[in-house]
Amino acid sequence: MKVVLAYSGGLDTSTILVLLKKKYNADVITVTVDVGQEDELRDVEERAYQLGASKHYTVDTKDVFVEEYIYSAIKANALYEGKYPLGTALARPLIAKKVAEIAIAEGADAVAHGCTGKGNDQIRFDVTLKAYLKPDIKIIAPVRELKLTRSENIKILTEYGFKVPESHKKYSIDENIWSRSIEGGELDDPYREPSEEVFSWTVSPEKAPDKPLYLDIEFEKGVPTKVNGVRLYGAKLIKLLNTDIGSHGYGRIDLIESRVIGLKSREVYEAPAALALIEAHQDLERMVLTPRELRFKRLVDEMWCDLVYQGLWIDPMMEHLNSVIDSINRFVSGTVRIKVYKGSLRIVGRTSPYSLYSQELIDYNRGWYPSDAEARGFITAHSFYALTAHKVRDKN
Ligand code: ARG
Repeated sequence: MKVVLAYSGGLDTSTILVLLKKKYNADVITVTVDVGQEDELRDVEERAYQLGASKHYTVDTKDVFVEEYIYSAIKANALYEGKYPLGTALARPLIAKKVAEIAIAEGADAVAHGCTGKGNDQIRFDVTLKAYLKPDIKIIAPVRELKLTRSENIKILTEYGFKVPESHKKYSIDENIWSRSIEGGELDDPYREPSEEVFSWTVSPEKAPDKPLYLDIEFEKGVPTKVNGVRLYGAKLIKLLNTDIGSHGYGRIDLIESRVIGLKSREVYEAPAALALIEAHQDLERMVLTPRELRFKRLVDEMWCDLVYQGLWIDPMMEHLNSVIDSINRFVSGTVRIKVYKGSLRIVGRTSPYSLYSQELIDYNRGWYPSDAEARGFITAHSFYALTAHKVRDKN
């Protein structure tokens, strides 16, 4: 049997590799998709061969991830349940698609992934794989099928001489350029404050510098293009913001999250760039969009978020939502100034060629709009239904 395994190099996928190879004697081809995780990918490749892979692919998809997935997320102000920027949820369909392509090219009998039965990722992998694989290629999820626990995985790997890093023993970590997620261990107690050791992209706000950080972020059609006047290419811009903003203690998220499968979970994330960019983008929208566009877009954005979270990237609704979101974003150009200080971020300025804000019109000392008569006329029509109903109902 020839199996193509989506291999991150972590605990679960390493265990699967060992099991497939040593227990089931399968020919295992590993695929690691580079979505900007900080792991040393050459080490991951080496580990794959050590644990028995017959062939390994490292696929660099950072640019596609940024341009086709993250840019759409920024344009949609994507924060699941108002807080989670969807890093993992966005990367899964891209990873699964690449793995499917390799499985077809390699003539594999099956594709394997490391998801458990409790999470959202199994949905995202299975749905995308079903969309792109040929029906005769099976999907196997050994951790879900064999109900493998993390401690069993550690045992199996140690038996085969694989050194499991300490951090992998305590937490389940998933990382890409958009967010870092930390789950499990003592974090499962939702009343307990996460210890400092779970964080690696952000310093604790208490230890952040005393001097605030000011950044001017420029957007063109909803997409960030410059920081402090310097044009930066997507992945570079996001990395820079993660480092600079994270070093000022901003970007931590602690969320009781509603998983698709019916379980609430306690999730800890780090996402300095994602949070800052979405906050800035949303601020610019408030300046350039009409109130109706803003209200409508809130609904569209929320639906976009839910579909991505629920693993339905391939749902045809996504195409419709994206075209509305792109259309509205044609006017989301301009610059937003942010101030980051000891774990907080504030928008302190914004400017746009499409601004609907007029400093001249809003000035109380300049009075040509609206005139007294215009204001009275407007208020009469505006309140007519309400005042009529108020009178009629008062009498009865
Ligand atoms: N709860 C998030 C999601 O479903 C993140 C899951 C990441 N997995 C992890 N092992 N930390 O998108």
